[in-house]
Amino acid sequence: MFNEMNWGKKNRMSEIIQHDGRALMLAIDHGYFMGPTRGMEDPAKALEPLLAYADSLMLSPGILGTSVPISFRGGKVLRASGGNSILDEDMSNEAVILSAEQAITLNASAVAISIYVGAEYQHQTLMNLAQAIEDASPYGLPVLGVTAVGKEMKEKAADKRFLALSCRIAAEFGADIVKTYYCDGFEEVVAKTPVPIVIAGGPRLDSYESILQMCHNALERGAIGVDMGRNIWQADHPAAIIQGVRGIVHDGLSVSEALDLVNGLATDATRRKEYFPAHPEDARVQEKH
Ligand code: 5RP
Repeated sequence: MFNEMNWGKKNRMSEIIQHDGRALMLAIDHGYFMGPTRGMEDPAKALEPLLAYADSLMLSPGILGTSVPISFRGGKVLRASGGNSILDEDMSNEAVILSAEQAITLNASAVAISIYVGAEYQHQTLMNLAQAIEDASPYGLPVLGVTAVGKEMKEKAADKRFLALSCRIAAEFGADIVKTYYCDGFEEVVAKTPVPIVIAGGPRLDSYESILQMCHNALERGAIGVDMGRNIWQADHPAAIIQGVRGIVHDGLSVSEALDLVNGLATDATRRKEYFPAHPEDARVQEKH
């Protein structure tokens, strides 16, 4: 898949997609519109037990600069669109917030741009993607297209026709990888999208088995991996579940094998510490994303 790219772009892509053609991306960019999201209040502390298991991080430039050890050798996919907050009714009003030059200065492997198909600012977000692809091209900097749904279109995250529409548009514009949601009929979304797809995790699921099953289903139906956030770092045992997900993504584990692995690793030592009590209003607002 990297044949037509120059060495620099292939090298950057290989920081995200590994030798086996699979990718375990850890998404921690939520703060760009959700602020200090539960489980990621202190990014450096939250990341510490997870870094060894992530092929790459998807994150904002400010969190890369402040919270990721300089020794981190994995990929860095930098959030490059934004400009709204969880308090906005319509979250699609985004602009480009990081230039390709800035991304290269930060040694980025790629930049990530959200598109909000069908939303009020659809056109603007598609033009953000077009602009970012054009600006990234001279640097051989890959672009990840993110099919966002926002608050008001949340039910669309389970609609294969909507997801295929959004993914295909991102691919047509020239996104190198597309990030979308898992849904029933996911294989159709993959078949209609001629670039690699990774799945987001979405809001926290109710069991480790559900998380692992979703990852397994997505890979079986053609995803190349995950770009997952809350279902890892909001879990009770983040370092355990990321290893289970890794087992599925890279080691071919079945769901029950991965679940055994997670259960074996889920001890008091790996339990996530609650540094701050959750505010009920925050939980309500954040559930909408
Ligand atoms: C926001 C994003 C997030 O990175 C994305 O939602 C992935 O995180 P999660 O697995 O928590 O859904 O792209 O638009």
